[in-house]
Amino acid sequence: MQSFRLLRTYLGPHRKWAILAPALMALEVAMDLLQPRLLQAIVDVGIPRGDLAFILRTGGWMLAVAAVGLIGGIGCTVCAVLAGIGLGTDLRRDMFGKVQDLSFGNLDRLEAGSIITRLTSDVTQMQELAMMLLRIMVRAPLLLVGSIVMGILTSRTLALLFFFLIPAVLIIVTYVVRKTFPLFARVQACIDRVNTIVQENLAGVRVVKSFVRSDYEAARFGDANDALMQVGVAAARVNAATMPLVMLVFSTGFVATLWIGGLQAFSGGLEVGRIIAFSNYLMQALMSLMMVSMLVMRLSRSEASARRIGEVMAQVPEVPTPTPGDTMTPASRDGRGAAVAFEGVTMRYGDADADPVLRDISFEAMPGETVAVLGATGSGKSSLVHLIARFYDVSEGRVTIDGVDVRRWDERALRAAVAVVPQETVLFSGSIAENIRYGRPEAPQEELEAVAEIAQAHDFICDMPDGYETELSQRGANLSGGQKQRIAIARALLMRSPILILDDCTSAVDVETEARILDGLLAGEAARTCFIVTQRVATAMTAHRILLLDDGKIAAQGSHAELMATSPLYRDIVQSQAPEEDSHAA
Ligand SMILES: Nc1ncnc2c1ncn2[C@@H]1O[C@H](COP(=O)(O)OP(=O)(O)OP(=O)(O)O)[C@@H](O)[C@H]1O
Ligand SMILES: [Mg+2]
Repeated sequence: MQSFRLLRTYLGPHRKWAILAPALMALEVAMDLLQPRLLQAIVDVGIPRGDLAFILRTGGWMLAVAAVGLIGGIGCTVCAVLAGIGLGTDLRRDMFGKVQDLSFGNLDRLEAGSIITRLTSDVTQMQELAMMLLRIMVRAPLLLVGSIVMGILTSRTLALLFFFLIPAVLIIVTYVVRKTFPLFARVQACIDRVNTIVQENLAGVRVVKSFVRSDYEAARFGDANDALMQVGVAAARVNAATMPLVMLVFSTGFVATLWIGGLQAFSGGLEVGRIIAFSNYLMQALMSLMMVSMLVMRLSRSEASARRIGEVMAQVPEVPTPTPGDTMTPASRDGRGAAVAFEGVTMRYGDADADPVLRDISFEAMPGETVAVLGATGSGKSSLVHLIARFYDVSEGRVTIDGVDVRRWDERALRAAVAVVPQETVLFSGSIAENIRYGRPEAPQEELEAVAEIAQAHDFICDMPDGYETELSQRGANLSGGQKQRIAIARALLMRSPILILDDCTSAVDVETEARILDGLLAGEAARTCFIVTQRVATAMTAHRILLLDDGKIAAQGSHAELMATSPLYRDIVQSQAPEEDSHAA
């Protein structure tokens, strides 16, 4: 059972509470078991003798026993809650850490909505299981065995009733567990679906509104929500039948006790006090059986959650970190840019039998060189530059930086060496300054402004109400697309990395501003090796060298003049974009 493995691992650090809780519970059970005997003494000894002092004394004992039981009960609950919450907190922390460690390839497959459900709802299931287990694990079996033993001691004849009643409850419980177990796995899957839709809609709220798809999305959400409700109702329906059925067994047991006991009492074989005590033990026994069954149900529900949590924890990052002894960090390059080389690189996403998106790519970028990666949409430009930052690993061949395979680079050193402005801008809530400083929180204000100047962001930032301290709303929603892109460029520039990758990140910036950004980059940062991904010939032309990508292969490489002379495909592209250039020039 995955649930138990998980509990064992995560209750370990909270051992103190996890041991104290059942111990305190044992105290409460002992007290509960004593009560009916004290009651019996009052009925069978105190009352017939008319001994008021005895009755009062025994009553006093009953109160004392109840008080001790109460302390045990409350203490147990407090300890169980502390252990459970501790477990939940640790589990969430570890899962979050795990998700942070995963590679892009892993995250492509795990839906965000599903990760959220696993981190919240599934962890809550485990937390509740832990709490329930610590309270009931000891209470139910002890009370069950204790009640049966005490019941037999109280009356052998009446104890025969256990033979009929316990199997009856067991049959009902088994039925319920078998019915509900598959439902619980479906409940979690339905919550996943609901979370995924909410997640997509929040992220894409502008698209939804602009395409007037609110009704469609509402319907899509409604379907997922209804599905969740239906499974929930199905599970509740089975559960709802349980209680009345078990109560029926209880009542039958109670009536049978009074009837058989009554007959015996008439014939003088049994005192009334014993009948009362026995019926108490009978109820306790059946109640604890109920608790065990509730525990089993909770366990079956948590098992579904434990498996889902286990799936996340078992993910192996697709881009493995190099073994410590095997890492190599190239010698200091004294402010020069880094050399990047691709040697016969082929790359596939996912399975080994998938079609490669990059085929036999070879090229070399000198330190300080600016390389444009030009190609139609889907030609593999982003995939190519992602390999430099090792977001994914190559399937064949190798990528080197300063002659060292990126797979042997220390991960931190590699991240520091390559700054990426991704194709889709991601900003965080917080001030503009915080966003630009994301990679180097300690950078001084002057540097911040210097990179913002190069990224052509300084002027519009100064025009904002609080300048660099202006708060961005979630994902930077209060900025224009081009403004967001320029902040993302400034953020990457601040890293002062020897390699800079701009993945089509000036698409929302007008041509003049884009030209100023590129001029600034190339003028001030001669030491940097720069990759500019673009679909615009005009942008590519500014680079020292152009890699022309066509369907995952390098169709041609060289300077603009060289390509004009040698590549018909390049001439076609220049031709096709020419009218656009002319109209801009005009
Ligand atoms: N995470 C991914 N998982 C699977 N396939 C992917 C993934 N990312 C890209 N692809 C596929 O790889 C191919 C190349 O995609 P890539 O993003 O590299 O193109 P691109 O040249 O950057 O296009 P664009 O100019 O539109 O950004 C496409 O066919 C795409 O479907
Ligand atoms: Mg792309």
